[in-house]
Formats: sequence, structure tokens, C-alpha cells
Amino acid sequence: MTKFFIQTWGCQMNEYDSDRIRDLLKSQNWQETPEIAEADIVVLVTCAVRKKAEDKVYNQLFSWKHKKLLKEKAIICFGGCVASEDGKKVLSEAPMVSVVFGPQTIHRLVSMINEVRENGRKVVDVSFPDIEKFDFLPSPAGRNGSSAFVTIMEGCSNFCTYCIVPYTRGQEMSRSPEAVLEEIRILTDQGIREINLLGQNVNSYSGVYASGKRCNFAELLYLVAEIPGVERIRFTTSNPHDLTDEIITAFRDLPQIASSLHLPVQSGSDRILRLMGRKYDREKYFEVVTKLRDARPGISISSDFIVGFPGETAADFRDTMDLVDRVRFDQSFSFIYSPRPGTPAASLEDNVSLTEKKERLYELQNRINFFAQTYSREMLDTVQNVLVDGLSVKNSQELRGRTDNNRTVNFPGDPALIGTFRTVKITYVMAHTLRGELVRE
Ligand code: SAH
Ligand code: SF4
Ligand code: F3S
Repeated sequence: MTKFFIQTWGCQMNEYDSDRIRDLLKSQNWQETPEIAEADIVVLVTCAVRKKAEDKVYNQLFSWKHKKLLKEKAIICFGGCVASEDGKKVLSEAPMVSVVFGPQTIHRLVSMINEVRENGRKVVDVSFPDIEKFDFLPSPAGRNGSSAFVTIMEGCSNFCTYCIVPYTRGQEMSRSPEAVLEEIRILTDQGIREINLLGQNVNSYSGVYASGKRCNFAELLYLVAEIPGVERIRFTTSNPHDLTDEIITAFRDLPQIASSLHLPVQSGSDRILRLMGRKYDREKYFEVVTKLRDARPGISISSDFIVGFPGETAADFRDTMDLVDRVRFDQSFSFIYSPRPGTPAASLEDNVSLTEKKERLYELQNRINFFAQTYSREMLDTVQNVLVDGLSVKNSQELRGRTDNNRTVNFPGDPALIGTFRTVKITYVMAHTLRGELVRE
């Protein structure tokens, strides 16, 4: 029996790809193992968004090798965005690798593995065939929990000046609405209740029906909401530039859309936003947020930030902090700028000292945590609509669920409730999770 092991880094698009790789390898009657030492096939799905992310993968491989954890004949398959960026170079960086595949060639993985097995030759295919991967993958099966990702578009054509994604995942391409809706039906038939629509810029989704007609993102939301069994819809990532009034109206019309939106702003300085090539300014961001809060009072808005972009002055950073205070973001992610080879920003002079970058990051994260905790505290003693996702990670006697505003809550309850929505009263608030108790209905 062939056993495979998968490790995934990076964004939800990679997590989705890994789920589809699991479907594919299982369709060969291969079995997944959580033990690297048992694996005949090791699959790495990697992220190149920052240097640290990239280094982690190679470090992991060498650490396994060093600890002699890799089976002697294990076939190591190196995929994802670092594979796409490094291509053949992966083989010289990490000689134990035999297969290099990219985000758009995951469906060819089995034939690449078989080629290594039969001919003993290493195989590299990080090409970008037209969005064909979805047509060659088995249908999604056996997802755990109550929530699933569905990629609605691949790649990105925005070319923000700091970002490597357009180079690693290719041009933006939307799946057809029929394919997306069919995949969601298959998932809801398996008991999935929450669908998380994925793309680097979902707001600019533009799928083409078999009839040739186009479907935009707002239309897609209404179609997804009509599918029986879809009780909660999330989507990520949204770009403020493409968040249309129609999409905002969908928040007003469709109770299935969760009351939380991830809307990365990156910076609050118009000058830096221009240098980043983000195509919106702070006024536009405020306008979108105001409209969203009007359409969906209480909606939780989270974001991504980059600090220390080349040339970012103290005044630029103050603009970011001012924007944070005005928007009062919920749980967000912030990063120190990391130059990515081949991107336009990488050739700008990086004149912000590391100390300054760290100070700014610290200040920003503190401020965001303050708001996130304020929102959490406001939830104490309220009742929340929670989708029961599985057993609690820390205590398998308890259940774990997610609130509408995307917080984890642990509470005692019967595992038979997994996959259903329940009313939970919040009884205790911690830094990153909540505790609660079921409200008898
Ligand atoms: N498509 C999404 C972002 C995908 S990358 C969007 O446009 O919002 C996820 C996050 O990584 C980005 O939002 C950004 O904050 C961060 N990031 C991307 N490139 C980076 C870089 N070169 N250095 C530091 N952070 C970066
Ligand atoms: Fe990168 Fe910009 Fe595309 Fe997001 S929108 S993936 S930041 S290029
Ligand atoms: Fe990383 Fe690739 Fe996603 S670079 S953030 S895994 S698209």
C-alpha cells in the first residue's frame, strides 16, 4: 500500500490545492499518513510570498533529511509557489526532490510520480496550462468538518509592485459559474454548510457560462446562496478597488453571507499605495467601509498590512495608524516588507532600517490586537450563531465552532452536532478564542 504525506504552507488557495491533491492521490487507492517516516510519497505545497515563508520549506526538507526521517525510496514532490518561482533550480537546491510541480499542474502529479517510478528520471512541470486543472481532478470527497474552500479563480493580474503571486500562479482566470456551482453542490451533498470562495481578487471574478454569457462576482454570490444546504458564505480575498456596489448590496440581501470581510488595505498612505500599485486611495477605502457597514451593521472588517515598504516615512506610517484607528479593524495580519526577486519594488532602495520596521510592526500589531480584543469582549454574554466545525483542538471532550465574525468558540456538547448551526452563549473571552455554552432551543 502506497502511503503519502502532505504538508502545506501559505494561503487558503494552497490549502484548497492540497485538498484536491488528496482527492487525486486517494483516487489511486493511496493512503494518507500523518507520519513523514512512513511516507512513500511526500508532497510539499509551498509559499513564496515572503522570504521567510520560502526558507521554511527548504529548512524543513533538510531537517527531515538530517533527522533521517525520509524513507530511502520516498519520492519527494515539491509543489506550490516556490516550485513555480524556482522551477528546475529546486533540484539543485534540494537534491532529494524528484518531482517539481506548480499550482497549475497539480492534476498531473500522479503521472509525474509514475514517470519517476518507471524511469527513475526527475520530472519538472511548472507550466501554466489554461485553467485545465479542475477538469482533470476527481470530485472533492470526504472533506472534514462543515466548511470547505472552493477556488473560483486562479492567478492574479494585478501586479502589485511588491508581490510575487502573479508570477507564481499566473494570469487571473475565472472558472465557469457552472463548474463552481456544481462543485458546491457536491460539497453540500456531503454535509458541508459553509462555503469559502477563493481567489486572489474574487471581486473581479468574471466567469463565462457555456452559453457565452458572463457572470460577475455579485451574480455568483446570489447563485451560490440559492443552493440548498449553503447556509454560510465567506469569500477571500477582496480588493477594495473592485468591491462594487452590487457586491455590497449582496451583503444587504443575502443573510447567508457571513458578517465578516477580509479587505486588505496594505497601507494608509496614498503615496505608498501608489508606489505599491494598489489602484485605490484611502478615501476609496473609507467609502467602501462606510457602505459595507451601512449595508451590514456590525460587520467585522479585517485586513492585511505591509510595513516598511521602500521609502515609507514616519508620516506615511502615521497615515496607516490613522486609518487603523478610523476603521477599527478586527483581527488582521501585518508583515514587514520582504523584497521578492523579479518584482518592481525589489529594485527600489530599501531605506527603512530594520529597527524602524520592527517598531512600526509592533505598534501596528498592538493597536490591531487592542481592537480585536475590544470586539471579543463586547461578545461576552451575547448569543451567537455558531457553525459546529469539529472537536475542540485542546480538549477532545468539547466542540469547536465558528461565529459569524470568524472567531473560534469552544463549548461542551455532543459530537453529533458537528456540521450544524447552534446558538451558543459566550461565557468567557480569551485572547484568541472564546468559550461558550449551548443555548437549549
Ligand atoms: N491577493 C491578496 C493578497 C495575497 S498575499 C490581496 O491583494 O490582498 C497575502 C498578503 O501577504 C498580502 O495581503 C500582503 O499583506 C502580504 N505580502 C505580499 N507580498 C509581500 C511582500 N513582498 N512582503 C511582505 N508582505 C507581503
Ligand atoms: Fe499580489 Fe496584488 Fe494580486 Fe494580491 S492583488 S495577489 S497583493 S498582485
Ligand atoms: Fe503564498 Fe502562493 Fe498563496 S505565494 S500566499 S501560497 S498564492
